[in-house]
Amino acid sequence: MNVLEEELTLPNGSILSNRIAKSSMSENLSNKYHEPSPVLINVYKKWAQSGAGLLITGNIMIDSKAIGEPRNVVVEDRKSFEMLKEWAESVKGTNTQLWAQINHPGRQAMEQINSDLKAPSAVPLKLGGRKKITKKTPTALTESEILAIIEAFGNTAIILKDAGFSGVQIHGAHGYLVSQFLSPYSNVRTDKWGGSLENRAQFVVEVYRKIRARVGSSFPIGIKLNSADFQKGGFSEEESMEVVKILSKEGIDLIEISGGTYEAPAMMGNQKESTIKREVYFMDYIKKARKITNTPLMLTGGFRTASVMKDAIASNQVDIIGIARPFAVYPNIGNEIFNESRINFNTEIKKTGVKGIDGAMNIIWYESQIKRLGEGKTSKPDLNPWAVFLKYFWLILEHKLTKKASA
Ligand SMILES: Cc1cc2nc3c(=O)[nH]c(=O)nc-3n(C[C@H](O)[C@H](O)[C@H](O)COP(=O)(O)O)c2cc1C
Repeated sequence: MNVLEEELTLPNGSILSNRIAKSSMSENLSNKYHEPSPVLINVYKKWAQSGAGLLITGNIMIDSKAIGEPRNVVVEDRKSFEMLKEWAESVKGTNTQLWAQINHPGRQAMEQINSDLKAPSAVPLKLGGRKKITKKTPTALTESEILAIIEAFGNTAIILKDAGFSGVQIHGAHGYLVSQFLSPYSNVRTDKWGGSLENRAQFVVEVYRKIRARVGSSFPIGIKLNSADFQKGGFSEEESMEVVKILSKEGIDLIEISGGTYEAPAMMGNQKESTIKREVYFMDYIKKARKITNTPLMLTGGFRTASVMKDAIASNQVDIIGIARPFAVYPNIGNEIFNESRINFNTEIKKTGVKGIDGAMNIIWYESQIKRLGEGKTSKPDLNPWAVFLKYFWLILEHKLTKKASA
């Protein structure tokens, strides 16, 4: 039997039917009111047939005042409960679990669509080669605001559990709020939430404990964590290993490893020859992490060929293969890996040639492919990047207009 088809039992006893997981991708497909749309639900119905044992949703916002992208789903109360139930039901009748990734973007909330940015400390974001500082400087969270956000993570998790999702994943990577607390670069607080690693990690520990207290011991909780921020003064590999130890001791069910932030986007890969040669990112890290924890590890970034995926599982370095971009282009990827009808899942994107725009293209081009899948179309490898950009620009404008009209 193909090792990728073997089951995996998580610490809480829940079973993943195989080793292929769709990693989180912000779909940007809510309706205008940040509720799951029929197109979004359709994509998951399609991916539910992909053969993957686990699908992790794109990041769902826990607070409507802190939104990553104009069409992110927000879950802060039960007003869209019926639509959430429908979303959760997309995997009904399959062997696929559907976990909801929950997130607060902190200082990485899109400044064009949020009136205030809140973060551990008032450290502005530097995008575009670290020269251009974004216009808005975030405000440092007060103690009571921190406690309210921890509460909100628990609240969102229990709503999603009640709606029928099979698990939740805390977004603790890529420079969003949890990752901002962990980083000594973005967290320069002098109270109990900043300073030593133990203090900086207290936020994620409290978020995990709050969710666990709300959802109970048998509901899977995972985290996506940076192997490092790849930023001067940021969260380091050694610190990340310590956080793996802390969360393993707390009893978390699955740790997904990624890396980077939107200031230094290592999660999307680099052009280093060694990385290109071995296909997968963060491999050195995962080998070391394997030695310090028994918690199941998922690795995401760069997996494109079935043979490399197989080797990673067979050599016991990784428990779950995380795959993102290929799911947008090859929606039947799990079955194609298992029946060996395709061995390579490369995803070359089209670019405009304008540097400022092409950085975003790495996300919005794939989101457009995901939308096509939800509309019942096939993916389109030659999708025009200018059309993608203009449509995205319109979404931002529309979000602003909707907010203005409802104010
Ligand atoms: C369109 C798009 C949206 C993404 N949104 C998220 C997200 O919401 N949460 C997250 O943890 N990672 C997100 N990512 C990062 C992916 O999960 C993954 O870490 C990255 O794409 C590398 O994996 P890959 O080489 O298999 O694509 C996104 C990536 C893409 C392309």
